[in-house]
Amino acid sequence: MADTTQPVTMDTIVSLCRRRGFVFPSSEIYGGLGSTYDYGHYGVLTKNTIRSLWFRAMVQERDDIVALDSAIILNPSVWEASGHVAGFTDPLVDCRTCKLRFRADQLELASCGRKPSKRPGETPDCDLTEPRQFNLMFETHVGALQDESSLAYLRPETAQGIFINFKNVAQLARRKPPFGIAQVGKSFRNEITPGNFLFRVREFEQMEMEFFVPPGDATQWFGYWLDQRLDWHRSLGLRESNLRVREHDEGERSHYSSATSDIEYLYPIGWQELEGVANRGDYDLTQHTQSSGTKLEWIDPDGNRYTPHVIEPAVSIERIFVALLCDAYHEEVVGDRERVVLRLHPQVAPVKAAILPLVPRDEGMATRARALYEELRRHHVVEHDESGQIGRRYRRQDEIGTPWAFTVDEQTLEDETVTVRDRDSLAQERLPISGVRAWLDDALERDWSSPSSD
Ligand code: GAP
Repeated sequence: MADTTQPVTMDTIVSLCRRRGFVFPSSEIYGGLGSTYDYGHYGVLTKNTIRSLWFRAMVQERDDIVALDSAIILNPSVWEASGHVAGFTDPLVDCRTCKLRFRADQLELASCGRKPSKRPGETPDCDLTEPRQFNLMFETHVGALQDESSLAYLRPETAQGIFINFKNVAQLARRKPPFGIAQVGKSFRNEITPGNFLFRVREFEQMEMEFFVPPGDATQWFGYWLDQRLDWHRSLGLRESNLRVREHDEGERSHYSSATSDIEYLYPIGWQELEGVANRGDYDLTQHTQSSGTKLEWIDPDGNRYTPHVIEPAVSIERIFVALLCDAYHEEVVGDRERVVLRLHPQVAPVKAAILPLVPRDEGMATRARALYEELRRHHVVEHDESGQIGRRYRRQDEIGTPWAFTVDEQTLEDETVTVRDRDSLAQERLPISGVRAWLDDALERDWSSPSSD
Protein backbone atom coordinates (compact mmCIF):
# COMPACT_ATOMS: atom_id res chain seq x y z
CA MET A 1 0.00 0.00 0.00
CA ALA A 2 1.41 3.41 -0.93
CA ASP A 3 0.34 6.27 1.30
CA THR A 4 -0.62 9.28 -0.84
CA THR A 5 -2.30 11.38 1.87
CA GLN A 6 -1.54 15.10 1.66
CA PRO A 7 -2.24 17.22 4.73
CA VAL A 8 -6.03 17.11 4.80
CA THR A 9 -7.93 20.31 3.98
CA MET A 10 -11.36 21.38 5.21
CA ASP A 11 -12.55 21.30 1.56
CA THR A 12 -11.60 17.61 1.31
CA ILE A 13 -13.63 16.83 4.43
CA VAL A 14 -16.60 18.91 3.22
CA SER A 15 -16.58 17.08 -0.10
CA LEU A 16 -16.35 13.61 1.53
CA CYS A 17 -19.23 14.52 3.87
CA ARG A 18 -21.35 15.57 0.94
CA ARG A 19 -20.40 12.65 -1.32
CA ARG A 20 -21.16 10.07 1.34
CA GLY A 21 -24.18 11.80 2.85
CA PHE A 22 -22.77 12.73 6.26
CA VAL A 23 -23.60 16.45 6.10
CA PHE A 24 -25.24 18.81 3.57
CA PRO A 25 -25.66 22.59 3.51
CA SER A 26 -29.06 23.36 5.00
CA SER A 27 -32.01 24.87 3.05
CA GLU A 28 -30.05 24.17 -0.11
CA ILE A 29 -33.02 24.29 -2.48
CA TYR A 30 -33.60 27.88 -1.29
CA GLY A 31 -29.99 28.90 -1.71
CA GLY A 32 -28.85 27.80 1.75
CA LEU A 33 -28.53 29.77 4.98
CA GLY A 34 -25.01 30.83 5.94
CA SER A 35 -23.17 28.16 7.92
CA THR A 36 -26.13 25.94 8.77
CA TYR A 37 -25.99 22.27 7.98
CA ASP A 38 -28.25 19.23 7.87
CA TYR A 39 -26.99 15.78 8.77
CA GLY A 40 -27.66 12.77 6.56
CA HIS A 41 -27.79 9.13 7.64
CA TYR A 42 -24.07 8.59 8.40
CA GLY A 43 -23.82 12.02 10.01
CA VAL A 44 -26.69 11.18 12.35
CA LEU A 45 -25.11 7.81 13.21
CA THR A 46 -21.75 9.48 13.94
CA LYS A 47 -23.36 12.15 16.11
CA ASN A 48 -25.34 9.50 18.02
CA THR A 49 -22.11 7.62 18.67
CA ILE A 50 -20.24 10.68 19.92
CA ARG A 51 -23.15 11.62 22.18
CA SER A 52 -23.53 8.14 23.62
CA LEU A 53 -19.77 7.70 24.24
CA TRP A 54 -19.75 11.04 26.07
CA PHE A 55 -22.82 10.07 28.11
CA ARG A 56 -21.27 6.71 28.95
CA ALA A 57 -18.04 8.29 30.21
CA MET A 58 -19.67 11.24 31.97
CA VAL A 59 -22.81 9.68 33.50
CA GLN A 60 -23.31 5.95 33.02
CA GLU A 61 -19.89 4.86 34.30
CA ARG A 62 -19.85 7.26 37.27
CA ASP A 63 -21.60 7.42 40.64
CA ASP A 64 -21.10 11.16 41.06
CA ILE A 65 -22.79 12.65 37.95
CA VAL A 66 -26.48 12.78 37.05
CA ALA A 67 -28.22 13.83 33.84
CA LEU A 68 -30.49 16.78 33.07
CA ASP A 69 -32.40 18.02 30.05
CA SER A 70 -33.46 21.62 30.61
CA ALA A 71 -35.47 23.90 28.30
CA ILE A 72 -33.85 25.82 25.45
CA ILE A 73 -35.90 28.97 26.08
CA LEU A 74 -35.53 30.03 29.72
CA ASN A 75 -36.88 32.97 31.68
CA PRO A 76 -34.88 35.94 30.28
CA SER A 77 -33.85 36.85 33.84
CA VAL A 78 -31.52 33.84 33.68
CA TRP A 79 -29.46 35.58 31.00
CA GLU A 80 -29.50 38.90 32.85
CA ALA A 81 -28.16 37.19 35.96
CA SER A 82 -25.57 35.10 34.13
CA GLY A 83 -24.09 38.21 32.51
CA HIS A 84 -24.97 37.16 28.97
CA VAL A 85 -27.32 40.08 28.22
CA ALA A 86 -24.65 42.59 29.15
CA GLY A 87 -21.51 40.77 28.21
CA PHE A 88 -21.95 37.92 25.73
CA THR A 89 -20.68 40.06 22.90
CA ASP A 90 -18.06 40.14 20.19
CA PRO A 91 -16.63 43.40 18.82
CA LEU A 92 -17.91 43.97 15.29
CA VAL A 93 -16.70 46.27 12.52
CA ASP A 94 -18.36 47.00 9.15
CA CYS A 95 -16.48 47.86 5.99
CA ARG A 96 -18.26 50.74 4.22
CA THR A 97 -16.49 49.81 0.97
CA CYS A 98 -17.11 46.07 0.61
CA LYS A 99 -20.16 46.00 2.97
CA LEU A 100 -18.88 42.96 4.88
CA ARG A 101 -18.76 42.53 8.66
CA PHE A 102 -15.82 41.26 10.63
CA ARG A 103 -14.88 40.47 14.22
CA ALA A 104 -12.64 43.35 15.23
CA ASP A 105 -10.49 41.01 17.34
CA GLN A 106 -9.94 38.54 14.46
CA LEU A 107 -9.19 40.77 11.47
CA GLU A 108 -6.00 38.86 10.78
CA LEU A 109 -8.08 35.70 10.11
CA ALA A 110 -10.60 37.41 7.77
CA SER A 111 -10.56 38.28 4.07
CA CYS A 112 -12.08 41.48 2.73
CA GLY A 113 -14.71 41.32 -0.02
CA ARG A 114 -12.66 42.98 -2.76
CA LYS A 115 -10.39 41.25 -5.25
CA PRO A 116 -7.57 40.49 -4.84
CA SER A 117 -8.66 39.63 -1.33
CA LYS A 118 -6.70 41.24 1.50
CA ARG A 119 -7.04 41.41 5.26
CA PRO A 120 -9.73 43.95 6.26
CA GLY A 121 -8.05 47.31 6.92
CA GLU A 122 -4.92 46.32 4.99
CA THR A 123 -5.44 48.74 2.06
CA PRO A 124 -6.43 52.44 2.00
CA ASP A 125 -9.63 51.35 0.15
CA CYS A 126 -10.90 49.60 3.28
CA ASP A 127 -13.15 51.94 5.25
CA LEU A 128 -13.82 50.25 8.60
CA THR A 129 -16.26 51.58 11.20
CA GLU A 130 -15.30 51.88 14.86
CA PRO A 131 -15.83 48.53 16.69
CA ARG A 132 -19.20 48.12 18.43
CA GLN A 133 -20.31 45.32 20.72
CA PHE A 134 -22.65 42.79 19.14
CA ASN A 135 -24.62 40.40 21.38
CA LEU A 136 -24.47 36.82 20.13
CA MET A 137 -27.77 35.68 21.62
CA PHE A 138 -30.66 35.03 19.22
CA GLU A 139 -33.79 36.85 20.34
CA THR A 140 -37.32 35.51 20.11
CA HIS A 141 -40.72 36.28 21.64
CA VAL A 142 -42.82 34.07 23.83
CA GLY A 143 -46.57 34.30 23.28
CA ALA A 144 -48.61 36.39 20.87
CA LEU A 145 -47.32 39.86 21.83
CA GLN A 146 -44.04 40.96 20.30
CA ASP A 147 -42.83 43.64 22.69
CA GLU A 148 -40.20 44.08 25.39
CA SER A 149 -42.26 42.06 27.87
CA SER A 150 -42.27 38.95 25.67
CA LEU A 151 -38.58 39.08 24.74
CA ALA A 152 -36.70 35.81 25.29
CA TYR A 153 -33.48 34.20 24.05
CA LEU A 154 -32.41 30.90 22.54
CA ARG A 155 -29.81 29.59 24.98
CA PRO A 156 -26.20 30.25 23.96
CA GLU A 157 -24.93 27.54 26.36
CA THR A 158 -26.61 24.64 28.16
CA ALA A 159 -24.78 25.43 31.41
CA GLN A 160 -27.26 27.96 32.80
CA GLY A 161 -30.08 25.39 32.65
CA ILE A 162 -27.94 23.33 35.03
CA PHE A 163 -27.18 26.13 37.51
CA ILE A 164 -30.82 27.15 37.91
CA ASN A 165 -31.70 23.50 38.67
CA PHE A 166 -28.93 23.05 41.26
CA LYS A 167 -31.33 22.96 44.21
CA ASN A 168 -33.80 20.56 42.56
CA VAL A 169 -31.12 18.13 41.49
CA ALA A 170 -29.05 18.24 44.68
CA GLN A 171 -32.14 17.40 46.74
CA LEU A 172 -33.84 14.91 44.45
CA ALA A 173 -30.75 13.06 43.24
CA ARG A 174 -29.49 12.80 46.86
CA ARG A 175 -26.00 13.94 45.88
CA LYS A 176 -23.51 16.01 47.87
CA PRO A 177 -20.46 17.89 46.57
CA PRO A 178 -18.37 16.78 44.83
CA PHE A 179 -21.02 15.85 42.29
CA GLY A 180 -21.89 16.83 38.74
CA ILE A 181 -24.85 17.50 36.47
CA ALA A 182 -24.46 16.70 32.78
CA GLN A 183 -26.50 17.93 29.87
CA VAL A 184 -26.45 17.54 26.09
CA GLY A 185 -28.48 19.81 23.84
CA LYS A 186 -28.64 22.46 21.17
CA SER A 187 -27.14 25.90 21.78
CA PHE A 188 -27.43 28.90 19.50
CA ARG A 189 -25.07 31.79 18.84
CA ASN A 190 -25.43 34.47 16.22
CA GLU A 191 -21.72 34.23 15.35
CA ILE A 192 -20.47 37.21 13.33
CA THR A 193 -18.04 35.11 11.36
CA PRO A 194 -19.17 31.49 11.35
CA GLY A 195 -17.28 29.17 9.05
CA ASN A 196 -14.80 26.43 8.48
CA PHE A 197 -17.57 23.93 7.95
CA LEU A 198 -19.00 22.71 11.29
CA PHE A 199 -16.18 24.25 13.32
CA ARG A 200 -18.04 27.50 14.03
CA VAL A 201 -21.77 27.31 13.38
CA ARG A 202 -24.77 29.21 14.69
CA GLU A 203 -26.63 26.13 15.91
CA PHE A 204 -24.64 23.36 17.59
CA GLU A 205 -25.01 20.59 20.11
CA GLN A 206 -23.14 21.14 23.35
CA MET A 207 -22.15 18.47 25.85
CA GLU A 208 -21.52 20.21 29.16
CA MET A 209 -21.00 19.03 32.71
CA GLU A 210 -21.01 21.26 35.78
CA PHE A 211 -19.11 19.67 38.69
CA PHE A 212 -19.94 21.22 42.08
CA VAL A 213 -17.14 21.00 44.65
CA PRO A 214 -16.19 22.42 48.07
CA PRO A 215 -14.37 25.74 47.37
CA GLY A 216 -11.04 24.53 48.75
CA ASP A 217 -10.97 21.57 46.34
CA ALA A 218 -11.63 23.49 43.11
CA THR A 219 -8.05 23.66 41.84
CA GLN A 220 -7.49 19.94 42.34
CA TRP A 221 -10.76 19.06 40.53
CA PHE A 222 -9.88 21.43 37.69
CA GLY A 223 -6.68 19.42 37.04
CA TYR A 224 -8.58 16.16 37.38
CA TRP A 225 -11.18 17.11 34.77
CA LEU A 226 -8.60 18.44 32.33
CA ASP A 227 -6.80 15.06 32.48
CA GLN A 228 -10.03 13.08 32.22
CA ARG A 229 -11.25 14.96 29.19
CA LEU A 230 -7.92 14.75 27.39
CA ASP A 231 -7.91 11.00 27.99
CA TRP A 232 -11.44 10.73 26.64
CA HIS A 233 -10.45 12.43 23.38
CA ARG A 234 -7.52 10.02 23.10
CA SER A 235 -9.93 7.15 23.67
CA LEU A 236 -11.86 8.22 20.55
CA GLY A 237 -8.70 7.45 18.60
CA LEU A 238 -7.55 11.05 18.02
CA ARG A 239 -3.81 11.03 17.48
CA GLU A 240 -1.61 12.30 20.30
CA SER A 241 0.35 14.59 17.97
CA ASN A 242 -2.89 16.41 17.06
CA LEU A 243 -3.92 17.16 20.65
CA ARG A 244 -2.54 19.68 23.12
CA VAL A 245 -3.61 21.71 26.15
CA ARG A 246 -3.40 25.51 26.17
CA GLU A 247 -3.95 27.59 29.27
CA HIS A 248 -5.80 30.91 28.84
CA ASP A 249 -4.06 33.99 30.13
CA GLU A 250 -5.99 36.40 32.33
CA GLY A 251 -7.08 38.72 29.52
CA GLU A 252 -8.52 35.88 27.48
CA ARG A 253 -10.70 34.30 30.17
CA SER A 254 -14.51 34.66 30.21
CA HIS A 255 -16.06 36.97 32.82
CA TYR A 256 -17.01 34.02 35.06
CA SER A 257 -13.74 32.10 34.93
CA SER A 258 -10.83 32.02 37.37
CA ALA A 259 -8.95 29.45 35.25
CA THR A 260 -9.55 28.00 31.79
CA SER A 261 -7.59 25.57 29.67
CA ASP A 262 -8.52 24.56 26.15
CA ILE A 263 -7.96 21.09 24.79
CA GLU A 264 -6.89 22.02 21.28
CA TYR A 265 -6.90 19.96 18.11
CA LEU A 266 -4.70 20.56 15.07
CA TYR A 267 -7.52 21.22 12.57
CA PRO A 268 -6.63 22.01 8.93
CA ILE A 269 -7.05 25.68 9.98
CA GLY A 270 -4.41 25.31 12.71
CA TRP A 271 -4.54 24.65 16.46
CA GLN A 272 -8.04 25.51 17.67
CA GLU A 273 -10.25 24.90 20.69
CA LEU A 274 -11.84 21.48 20.73
CA GLU A 275 -13.06 21.54 24.34
CA GLY A 276 -12.82 24.11 27.12
CA VAL A 277 -12.34 23.25 30.79
CA ALA A 278 -13.10 26.16 33.13
CA ASN A 279 -13.05 26.84 36.84
CA ARG A 280 -16.19 28.99 37.15
CA GLY A 281 -15.78 29.44 40.91
CA ASP A 282 -19.03 30.39 42.66
CA TYR A 283 -19.91 32.99 40.02
CA ASP A 284 -23.05 31.39 38.59
CA LEU A 285 -24.67 30.07 41.77
CA THR A 286 -24.03 33.41 43.48
CA GLN A 287 -25.48 35.40 40.60
CA HIS A 288 -28.65 33.27 40.46
CA THR A 289 -29.02 33.36 44.24
CA GLN A 290 -28.88 37.17 44.19
CA SER A 291 -31.21 37.56 41.22
CA SER A 292 -33.81 34.93 42.03
CA GLY A 293 -33.82 35.12 45.81
CA THR A 294 -33.49 31.31 45.96
CA LYS A 295 -30.42 30.23 47.90
CA LEU A 296 -28.30 27.99 45.70
CA GLU A 297 -25.93 26.71 48.36
CA TRP A 298 -24.93 23.57 50.16
CA ILE A 299 -25.54 22.85 53.84
CA ASP A 300 -23.33 20.10 55.18
CA PRO A 301 -24.42 17.69 57.96
CA ASP A 302 -22.86 20.03 60.60
CA GLY A 303 -25.02 22.91 59.40
CA ASN A 304 -22.16 24.76 57.64
CA ARG A 305 -23.33 26.60 54.52
CA TYR A 306 -21.27 27.27 51.46
CA THR A 307 -21.69 28.02 47.77
CA PRO A 308 -20.01 25.21 45.82
CA HIS A 309 -17.44 26.08 43.19
CA VAL A 310 -17.92 24.72 39.69
CA ILE A 311 -15.57 22.98 37.28
CA GLU A 312 -16.96 22.82 33.75
CA PRO A 313 -15.80 20.71 30.80
CA ALA A 314 -17.72 21.91 27.70
CA VAL A 315 -17.48 20.70 24.12
CA SER A 316 -19.69 20.52 21.02
CA ILE A 317 -20.43 17.42 18.99
CA GLU A 318 -19.58 19.47 15.88
CA ARG A 319 -16.00 20.20 16.94
CA ILE A 320 -15.45 16.50 17.75
CA PHE A 321 -17.09 15.44 14.48
CA VAL A 322 -14.70 17.57 12.40
CA ALA A 323 -11.66 16.49 14.44
CA LEU A 324 -12.53 12.81 14.04
CA LEU A 325 -12.96 13.05 10.27
CA CYS A 326 -9.76 15.08 9.80
CA ASP A 327 -7.81 12.64 11.97
CA ALA A 328 -9.18 9.58 10.18
CA TYR A 329 -9.03 10.76 6.55
CA HIS A 330 -6.50 8.83 4.54
CA GLU A 331 -5.69 8.28 0.86
CA GLU A 332 -3.58 5.42 -0.44
CA VAL A 333 -2.91 3.29 -3.50
CA VAL A 334 -3.63 -0.41 -3.13
CA GLY A 335 -2.35 -2.43 -6.12
CA ASP A 336 -3.23 -0.11 -8.98
CA ARG A 337 -6.26 1.42 -7.30
CA GLU A 338 -6.64 4.51 -5.16
CA ARG A 339 -8.76 4.36 -2.08
CA VAL A 340 -9.99 6.90 0.44
CA VAL A 341 -10.34 5.38 3.86
CA LEU A 342 -11.63 6.79 7.12
CA ARG A 343 -9.54 5.17 9.83
CA LEU A 344 -12.06 5.80 12.57
CA HIS A 345 -11.93 4.04 15.90
CA PRO A 346 -14.33 1.08 15.42
CA GLN A 347 -16.45 2.32 18.35
CA VAL A 348 -16.82 5.70 16.65
CA ALA A 349 -17.46 4.44 13.08
CA PRO A 350 -21.06 5.10 12.00
CA VAL A 351 -21.41 1.54 10.64
CA LYS A 352 -19.67 -1.24 12.54
CA ALA A 353 -19.68 -3.90 9.81
CA ALA A 354 -20.89 -4.56 6.27
CA ILE A 355 -22.40 -7.85 5.15
CA LEU A 356 -21.78 -8.50 1.48
CA PRO A 357 -22.96 -11.42 -0.68
CA LEU A 358 -20.20 -11.91 -3.27
CA VAL A 359 -22.68 -12.83 -6.00
CA PRO A 360 -26.01 -11.29 -4.97
CA ARG A 361 -28.05 -13.21 -7.57
CA ASP A 362 -26.86 -16.52 -6.12
CA GLU A 363 -29.76 -17.50 -3.91
CA GLY A 364 -27.63 -19.44 -1.38
CA MET A 365 -25.29 -16.48 -0.84
CA ALA A 366 -28.12 -13.93 -0.79
CA THR A 367 -30.11 -15.89 1.81
CA ARG A 368 -27.15 -16.44 4.11
CA ALA A 369 -25.99 -12.82 3.85
CA ARG A 370 -29.49 -11.54 4.63
CA ALA A 371 -29.82 -13.89 7.62
CA LEU A 372 -26.42 -12.78 9.00
CA TYR A 373 -27.38 -9.12 8.54
CA GLU A 374 -30.68 -9.61 10.35
CA GLU A 375 -28.92 -11.32 13.25
CA LEU A 376 -26.23 -8.63 13.60
CA ARG A 377 -28.46 -5.60 13.21
CA ARG A 378 -30.27 -6.45 16.42
CA HIS A 379 -27.05 -5.63 18.28
CA HIS A 380 -25.03 -3.21 16.14
CA VAL A 381 -25.45 -0.72 13.32
CA VAL A 382 -24.49 -2.83 10.30
CA GLU A 383 -25.15 -2.50 6.60
CA HIS A 384 -26.15 -5.03 3.93
CA ASP A 385 -24.91 -4.08 0.47
CA GLU A 386 -25.53 -6.08 -2.67
CA SER A 387 -25.20 -3.45 -5.38
CA GLY A 388 -22.16 -3.29 -7.68
CA GLN A 389 -18.80 -5.03 -7.94
CA ILE A 390 -17.38 -6.31 -4.66
CA GLY A 391 -14.37 -3.96 -4.96
CA ARG A 392 -16.65 -0.94 -5.25
CA ARG A 393 -18.68 -2.10 -2.28
CA TYR A 394 -15.50 -2.40 -0.18
CA ARG A 395 -14.43 1.10 -1.21
CA ARG A 396 -17.82 2.56 -0.32
CA GLN A 397 -17.46 1.08 3.15
CA ASP A 398 -13.83 2.28 3.43
CA GLU A 399 -14.97 5.84 2.75
CA ILE A 400 -17.49 5.83 5.58
CA GLY A 401 -15.02 4.12 7.91
CA THR A 402 -16.68 0.71 8.34
CA PRO A 403 -14.02 -1.33 10.17
CA TRP A 404 -14.98 -4.81 8.94
CA ALA A 405 -16.76 -6.45 6.02
CA PHE A 406 -18.13 -10.01 6.17
CA THR A 407 -18.33 -11.54 2.71
CA VAL A 408 -20.49 -14.54 1.89
CA ASP A 409 -18.95 -16.44 -1.06
CA GLU A 410 -18.82 -19.86 -2.76
CA GLN A 411 -16.94 -21.39 0.15
CA THR A 412 -19.71 -20.31 2.54
CA LEU A 413 -22.06 -22.63 0.66
CA GLU A 414 -19.67 -25.54 1.27
CA ASP A 415 -18.47 -25.00 4.86
CA GLU A 416 -20.64 -22.22 6.40
CA THR A 417 -17.68 -19.84 6.83
CA VAL A 418 -17.35 -16.20 5.70
CA THR A 419 -14.35 -13.95 5.13
CA VAL A 420 -13.78 -10.95 7.36
CA ARG A 421 -11.85 -8.08 5.76
CA ASP A 422 -10.08 -5.56 7.96
CA ARG A 423 -10.45 -1.94 6.76
CA ASP A 424 -6.98 -0.82 7.89
CA SER A 425 -4.69 -3.78 7.13
CA LEU A 426 -6.87 -5.27 4.34
CA ALA A 427 -6.08 -8.67 5.88
CA GLN A 428 -8.73 -11.33 5.35
CA GLU A 429 -9.48 -14.36 7.51
CA ARG A 430 -12.23 -16.97 7.57
CA LEU A 431 -14.73 -17.39 10.37
CA PRO A 432 -17.62 -19.76 10.94
CA ILE A 433 -20.79 -17.83 10.15
CA SER A 434 -22.20 -18.91 13.51
CA GLY A 435 -19.30 -17.18 15.30
CA VAL A 436 -19.53 -13.79 13.56
CA ARG A 437 -21.72 -12.17 16.19
CA ALA A 438 -19.32 -13.06 19.05
CA TRP A 439 -16.28 -12.10 16.91
CA LEU A 440 -17.77 -8.65 16.23
CA ASP A 441 -18.71 -8.10 19.89
CA ASP A 442 -15.11 -8.92 20.87
CA ALA A 443 -13.52 -6.88 18.10
CA LEU A 444 -15.46 -3.78 19.14
CA GLU A 445 -14.10 -4.06 22.68
CA ARG A 446 -10.44 -4.40 21.59
CA ASP A 447 -7.95 -1.56 22.08
CA TRP A 448 -7.42 0.43 18.91
CA SER A 449 -4.97 3.12 17.89
CA SER A 450 -4.69 4.85 14.57
CA PRO A 451 -2.38 3.05 12.12
CA SER A 452 -1.74 6.45 10.47
CA SER A 453 1.64 7.85 11.39
CA ASP A 454 1.68 10.52 14.06
N1 GAP B 1 -20.54 26.88 28.99
C1 GAP B 1 -19.27 27.30 28.57
C2 GAP B 1 -19.19 27.57 27.14
O1 GAP B 1 -20.19 27.55 26.45
P1 GAP B 1 -17.51 28.05 25.19
O2 GAP B 1 -16.01 27.96 25.18
O3 GAP B 1 -18.13 29.28 24.67
O4 GAP B 1 -17.93 27.79 26.72
C3 GAP B 1 -17.81 25.49 24.86
O5 GAP B 1 -18.09 26.79 24.44
C4 GAP B 1 -17.57 24.57 23.68
O6 GAP B 1 -18.67 24.65 22.76
C5 GAP B 1 -16.35 24.94 22.83
O7 GAP B 1 -15.18 24.37 23.38
C6 GAP B 1 -16.69 24.29 21.49
O8 GAP B 1 -16.43 22.88 21.57
C7 GAP B 1 -18.19 24.48 21.44
N2 GAP B 1 -18.59 25.66 20.63
C8 GAP B 1 -18.66 26.95 21.03
N3 GAP B 1 -19.09 27.76 20.03
C9 GAP B 1 -19.30 26.95 18.97
C10 GAP B 1 -19.76 27.18 17.63
N4 GAP B 1 -20.12 28.39 17.21
N5 GAP B 1 -19.84 26.12 16.79
C11 GAP B 1 -19.49 24.87 17.20
N6 GAP B 1 -19.08 24.60 18.45
C12 GAP B 1 -18.98 25.61 19.34
